[in-house]
Amino acid sequence: MKVGIDLIHFATSDYFLGMDTFAQEKGIDVNKYYVGIGQEKMSIAPPDEDIVSLAAKAVEPILQAIDRNEITAVLFATETGIDQSKSAGVFLHKLLNLPSRCRMIELKHACYAGAAGLQMATAMVKANTKEKILVIAADIAKYDQNSSGEATQGCGAVGMLITENPRILEIEAGSGYFTDDVMDFWRPNHRNTALVDGKYSTKVYLNSLKQTWDHFTEQTGRVFDDIDYFCYHIPFTKMAEKAHQTLMRKVGSKLEKAHADAKTLPSQIYNRIVGNSYSASLFVGFISLLDNVKDQLDNKRVSFFSYGSGCVAEFFTGVIQPGYEKVLMTESHQQQIDEREELDYQTYVQFYYQTDYAQPNLTLEHFNKGAFRFSGIEDDKRQYSKQATNAE
Ligand code: CAA
Repeated sequence: MKVGIDLIHFATSDYFLGMDTFAQEKGIDVNKYYVGIGQEKMSIAPPDEDIVSLAAKAVEPILQAIDRNEITAVLFATETGIDQSKSAGVFLHKLLNLPSRCRMIELKHACYAGAAGLQMATAMVKANTKEKILVIAADIAKYDQNSSGEATQGCGAVGMLITENPRILEIEAGSGYFTDDVMDFWRPNHRNTALVDGKYSTKVYLNSLKQTWDHFTEQTGRVFDDIDYFCYHIPFTKMAEKAHQTLMRKVGSKLEKAHADAKTLPSQIYNRIVGNSYSASLFVGFISLLDNVKDQLDNKRVSFFSYGSGCVAEFFTGVIQPGYEKVLMTESHQQQIDEREELDYQTYVQFYYQTDYAQPNLTLEHFNKGAFRFSGIEDDKRQYSKQATNAE
């Protein structure tokens, strides 16, 4: 029985900060960002955008393409949780008119939880083919101003519908996984921004790749040349390049650079101009691959390396289904990215750092141009609104 991704759609915020603006403000050569870390822009969430509004924007086009009453569960992966008790999916449930006969759960482990959600949903559908599960990965990557991580922020959400006989990707059985208790990136409950030991985190990421690869090959018997395209977790695109070089060295691949690039670069195009979206990043990369490879991808095998600092990692594969291109939502992805408004440095600071959410009542100024927005807080209860768009 084939189970996997039937539909997939991605959303990001309506604003971005150019790395040229960032570099100028910091007095740093912009090539450190364009070349050194491989980033051109980062999507910036305005104060009235959070993981719920981003997730709603990611998922609504999927729900419009199916009968939303058939959704049996929502697995919502995020590092940027909005409530210590209530899961983000329940806020989404009302906003998107999801059926009451549906389960909601929030999953957490840094950037890894989206992959965990995908694997769990696949297992649930295999156990009961009536299940139609939405896996959502949504995050706003936020570090302290003037910290090493500030240049690697961004935001985004990916919605994936997991069903039997999927139209886009069959998830293959068997994966390699790895856990190690390390402090490379973490966010204590009292903080809005992540703490990171940046250089150390890149080493732990690469070690986790090698560990999961060994386990993956033991579990599946597959080898490097069995994989047509590689998707990595992308905190910044240079990390994915380093990951691929590490894997090629490990397996002794003699693939020429041009061929190696063709297997990895298409999955970095969107991430280079969206930035890090933590749990969503790997899947933004997969969407980038689907939308940007010009050749036919029917029956091609794609690998996924998910890395969540702290750390938990997993390496698995899937096979692209014939006819997949008929259900892609490429136009929506490209339109959202193209229509973002560029911010000056001061507005970026205002958007990211100057709203105090720790108050019982708050009315948020209207910046979010999308159909769904986080409008404020009343008596400590978050408020969301759905607004008519030009398309409606
Ligand atoms: N032209 C070209 N290249 C330049 C340059 C210039 N003018 N100036 C610097 N560079 C190069 C450097 O040589 C360096 O290249 P290498 O990595 O190949 O050595 C690169 O640009 C970065 O320069 P620095 O090492 O000086 O950069 P930094 O000290 O500012 O930190 C970082 C880089 C540690 C990755 C930092 O961005 C960071 O802390 N990021 C957040 C943590 C992170 O994303 N870690 C990734 C692994 S963890 C993970 O994946 C989970 C997650 O999502 C957070």
